[in-house]
Amino acid sequence: MRTDLSDSFGIDFALFAFNYQPDVVIEVCKAGGLGVLGAVRFTPKELSEALDYIEANIGGRPYGVDVVMPAKTEAVAGMEVGEMHDMLEKMIPQEHRDFVESVLDKYDVPKLPSGEESTRDLLSWNDTEAREQVSISLERPDVKLIVNALGPPPVDVVQQAHQAGVRVAALTGRKDHALKQVANDVDIIVAQGTEAGGHSGEIATMVLVPEIVDAISRPVLAAGGIGSGRQVAAALSLGAQGVWTGSMWLNTVECGQSDIMYKKFHEAGSQDAVRSRAYTGKPARQLRTEWTDAWDDPSTPAPLGMPLQFMLCAEAQDRIRRAGKEELMGTPIGQLVGSFSEVRTVAEVIATMKADYEKAVASLPRLSTNA
Ligand SMILES: Cc1cc2nc3c(=O)[nH]c(=O)nc-3n(C[C@H](O)[C@H](O)[C@H](O)COP(=O)(O)O)c2cc1C
Repeated sequence: MRTDLSDSFGIDFALFAFNYQPDVVIEVCKAGGLGVLGAVRFTPKELSEALDYIEANIGGRPYGVDVVMPAKTEAVAGMEVGEMHDMLEKMIPQEHRDFVESVLDKYDVPKLPSGEESTRDLLSWNDTEAREQVSISLERPDVKLIVNALGPPPVDVVQQAHQAGVRVAALTGRKDHALKQVANDVDIIVAQGTEAGGHSGEIATMVLVPEIVDAISRPVLAAGGIGSGRQVAAALSLGAQGVWTGSMWLNTVECGQSDIMYKKFHEAGSQDAVRSRAYTGKPARQLRTEWTDAWDDPSTPAPLGMPLQFMLCAEAQDRIRRAGKEELMGTPIGQLVGSFSEVRTVAEVIATMKADYEKAVASLPRLSTNA
């Protein structure tokens, strides 16, 4: 499945894959797609190490890095990170802290053992750290794509990438937002439907992709609910130059999920991927759990804005995971989860996808003749 866009990257399958595990990125690239490392969980130092690891294993193939620079956030652009963290901490109301503890108490979730640190609670979804991540990434010769979520990337960041000869893609769930991204000179628009895992809008992929393809004159990647060769064929029929995928990689060996999470994926139906503000404060599609139910109950405190909600809940999430409290354990994931079956390697998943794509395309003339 080659397109002008995949040819321009020198890859042989127009499959773009988002994941935060370097091993998934490596395997996607080796199988002919373009892996994109989600950087939001990494500190700048961790990101450099991850990029070293990718480059030691990728054999000079092109890959990408995804940063998150939200257009609307409580974080302040340009502020020193420690200072920003202290300021944001003070914005979290006691009522919300009490609510988190009450849910943890209800499920007997123990505290972390003394000395064990919780996950970084202010992820790199702030202008200061995301810019540092962009600069680190642009120093790497094999990074050929920078991707941004949650709004148009700032014009000077787009220019910085272009000066380094690197293209910029950005995710959007609406046509009017896509137009703003084009105005900021973004090269590739990822039209992401509501089916998608993670932050998502309200418009379905089937409607959104042709709407954006018709509205702009830049290549579009279709995203949201794409995990099979048939869905790739559908995306290309809608005018996309390739597909951007996320959820499907969670069900792979290289993603390294816990056994509990793989089991939960296999038990879930598409209806169990709900759009909730419980995780980050912005609507994000995720596995429905008793944790999301607690936050989505209108009688409980409303989730905070970004990045406060994640800061509020980061340690609670660590406690839940450590205690293996299955009913509270979740992750961002899309409606595709309903189709997940056994865990396979990335290479196996891509081989199946390619074969299914060929089959789907070959069956179309026959179907239309019969119609
Ligand atoms: C676990 C998870 C985390 C995600 N985190 C990010 C992120 O940090 N940055 C980003 O641009 N997109 C993120 N996304 C969205 C994906 O990039 C992608 O747009 C989406 O998964 C596509 O829809 P699909 O899940 O139906 O494949 C995430 C998705 C998942 C499932």
